[in-house]
Amino acid sequence: MFQKKLFFIMLTAVFLGCTQTKDPVEGKIDELLSKMTLQEKIGQMNQLTGTGLSNDMVSQIKSGKVGSILNELDLKTTNELQRLAVKESRLGIPIIFARDVIHGFKTIFPIPLGQAATWNPQLVESGARVAAKEATATGIRWTFAPMIDIARDPRWGRIAESCGEDPYLTSQMGAAMIRGFQGKNLSDPTSLAACAKHFAGYGATESGKDYNTTWIPELQLRDVYLPPFKVAVETGVASFMCSFNDINGVPSSGNEFLNRQILRKEWNYSGLLVSDWASIEQMIKHGVCTDLKDAARKALKAGVDMDMMSYAYINQAEGLVKSGAISEKQIDDAVRNILRLKFRLGLFDHPYIKEQAKMPFYTEDALRKAKQAVIESAILLKNEKDILPLTDAIKSVAVIGPLSDAPADQLGTWCFDAEPSHSVTPLAAIKNSYGAKVKVITEKGLTYSRDRSPQGIAKAVNAAKKADVILLFVGEEAVLSGEAHCRADICLPGAQPELVTALKKTGKPVVMIVMAGRPLTIGKQVEEADAVLYAFQGGTMAGPGLADLIFGKAVPSGKLPVTLPRMVGQVPIYYAHKMTGRPAEKICLIDNIPVGAAQTSLGNTSYHLDAGDSPLFPFGFGLSYTSFNYSSVKISKNKMSEGQTLDVTCNITNAGKYDGAEVAQLYIRDVVGSLARPVRELKGFQKINLKAGETKTVRFTLTSDQLAFWNADMVKRTEPGEFQVWISTDSQSGKPVTFNYI
Ligand code: BGC
Repeated sequence: MFQKKLFFIMLTAVFLGCTQTKDPVEGKIDELLSKMTLQEKIGQMNQLTGTGLSNDMVSQIKSGKVGSILNELDLKTTNELQRLAVKESRLGIPIIFARDVIHGFKTIFPIPLGQAATWNPQLVESGARVAAKEATATGIRWTFAPMIDIARDPRWGRIAESCGEDPYLTSQMGAAMIRGFQGKNLSDPTSLAACAKHFAGYGATESGKDYNTTWIPELQLRDVYLPPFKVAVETGVASFMCSFNDINGVPSSGNEFLNRQILRKEWNYSGLLVSDWASIEQMIKHGVCTDLKDAARKALKAGVDMDMMSYAYINQAEGLVKSGAISEKQIDDAVRNILRLKFRLGLFDHPYIKEQAKMPFYTEDALRKAKQAVIESAILLKNEKDILPLTDAIKSVAVIGPLSDAPADQLGTWCFDAEPSHSVTPLAAIKNSYGAKVKVITEKGLTYSRDRSPQGIAKAVNAAKKADVILLFVGEEAVLSGEAHCRADICLPGAQPELVTALKKTGKPVVMIVMAGRPLTIGKQVEEADAVLYAFQGGTMAGPGLADLIFGKAVPSGKLPVTLPRMVGQVPIYYAHKMTGRPAEKICLIDNIPVGAAQTSLGNTSYHLDAGDSPLFPFGFGLSYTSFNYSSVKISKNKMSEGQTLDVTCNITNAGKYDGAEVAQLYIRDVVGSLARPVRELKGFQKINLKAGETKTVRFTLTSDQLAFWNADMVKRTEPGEFQVWISTDSQSGKPVTFNYI
């Protein structure tokens, strides 16, 4: 009996042993690694920006000193650089070419924040696939996207690149982008390796100023900032990038806790970790390293595999190994991660990119998907007297505003490779598609978003007087958001507020379309306008998508992926906040306080005297041309315990005249916890199409794990007690039902 058991154990061990060494890629990596000199290994860890076929680049490649090149865009040059690596370096290891392909390469989709507003992961995935097909045709096989930093501060310019404030929505959107970029198989020549960035906490930057310090308690880090990155690992993301910021004094490029403990040990991640641009060197400026050698040592110890543009590894790593400060095993581990990606991408077998007679840019399919993304990313915030969609009674429109015909600005931030000449602006689209139906009067008023010219406003008013409806395209130029483009005041720039007021005074209905890179504080303008569509920056097809919404060929279905504040001083303001011990009650705003009122007269609750306690519009909000009625929520049982699931359902009826799509949102609240918990947390969403008059049942399955949070002992646990659950149209409405976790 015992012998039989032993035999079985041995057999299992042999079998496991075989399966473990079976992965052919690991074998190939070992074989290659065994042939590499220390310098060649360090060369693989060096990423440089493209300098064409410069003598320096050529000689570095030939001597095996370059593992990756970013920003090389000429296909002939790329192939020649690759040939040098493959044919003229000693070991012939191919280079991986990288680029920031963020929301499109040639065909530009809405900025990521706009894509998140679609709440449609399939559509977002298809957008990333389009970007991958276009970018890989020029030799790029690695993109530095998606950016899945949680962004709760609209002053931060990079909120444009984010999927907004919520960990769940960001996780879903990030995963969709990863699937789209990477395709079914990384070795497919149209697959782009994705990069989950920036690891981590970059969005918590103090005062919304880029690169600034962050203070993030471990609990909050794990509960809010890390979940999208963990989902990225589970989705199979090929690479990670360190963030620029320090967390509690430790810059990410030297953060062993983040990069080794969490990423490698807890999440078992075996992909590549690249620094951000010169972020290793910048640890000197942060004041945590004495010199480049110290910075290289810290980054290597923290497990950063590849050095983007610090020249720290290439110049310092060898000395560090020789002095014993860093072991050669640490170098080997980094090189393994780099070679693994190169093998997975098939670069050893197919290092070159075929030149195509006709580049696969701006295909009909790509433009159609980009337009659909515009349609689904626009959020209808207001629609007084159902002014939208415009009816046949409207015979003339005045197209006004700095964003009405701004081909470059509608593309948004981070599109180095885009060609504004391919942008279809709102003005062009309205003229082309609806010009036969309505007379189009045009006058920009302000020529760009910061323009303050009073003459422009006067001209716009004159034009508006001649039309039945004003279509006013306001917002921000592309350059006002994105990396290092932060604002302390997030109002509509320039004289745009005056433009809105002046147009309102004409008495004509004002339809305001906001094309911006962030949430703007537009309370007054929302009051003045009759209808408001918040469109972010929609990319190449912004015009046709918006025109179809305005004229009713499409129905809005976008929902806010981020809270719109009334005033910048409310920031950070997000729906998943905690309750204070003195929640806001009987809000008395500043102008209503009686002169000479006693200090305690307002009741001592939590709100701002000038802004109150509510946002302008909450997370998840978005109207439609039709209306949706939610029935009360039903749950499959009122008690659940570990390992169990709970079905949550409700009926949604399209009670209006138009067919439309609604995003049903599932929220929970842990009513009493060992730690105070958010008033609501998003745990699921479904976008459903409903014909006018149609009713559908939405069903969510909540698992006990989804109720868990990180407690004070740093353990993720679901605590017994009462929970509330909602299915609602946004983060503030709906009635919850209650169940108990036992
Ligand atoms: C940004 C990254 C980007 C990198 C390479 C950095 O400045 O922070 O997001 O991927 O540059 O362009």
